[in-house]
Amino acid sequence: MNQQIIETKVHVYKFIELEPEIQVLINKAKEQINNAYAPYSNFYVGAAVLLQNGALFEANNQENAAFPSGLCAERVALFYANAQYPNVPVKAIAVAAFYDLNFVEAPITPCGACRQVLLESEIRFENEIDIYMYGKEHIYHVSNAKQLLPLSFGKERLEHHD
Ligand code: THU
Repeated sequence: MNQQIIETKVHVYKFIELEPEIQVLINKAKEQINNAYAPYSNFYVGAAVLLQNGALFEANNQENAAFPSGLCAERVALFYANAQYPNVPVKAIAVAAFYDLNFVEAPITPCGACRQVLLESEIRFENEIDIYMYGKEHIYHVSNAKQLLPLSFGKERLEHHD
């Protein structure tokens, strides 16, 4: 038996340390909590997606009385962006969350299903996505979805190899 350690590189920023373009993206994600439909969890999430062509898509979580029918902010934003621009890679995504009358203290990190969708986008466009996770104290940044999803299952596994 031997053991493998898999590392994730997370950059931790203060808001003022970020590039203006990224500050804008985070602020758009924060604004989006106002349009969230989250009457069941009261956990309001906003996401903003920046495409390589400069287009910006903003979205939020959409819940449903039949709980699993709802969707996270990240996936609403990613699918919305790809529905409009099916051939343009995603450059970056920012996510923010509001709960108990405040933006969350610790950075909001995407759920497993959203990580899988981020990964699909990276593989599909052969393009890594910068992921910014907002928290009041600090912001986490990872340079690609693989950092958040080690030992992942991706579409290359479904391709035929001779
Ligand atoms: N949620 C998101 O939209 N994004 C996340 O990263 C975590 C969770 C939503 C799903 C559900 O509407 C609510 O937050 C509580 O789980």
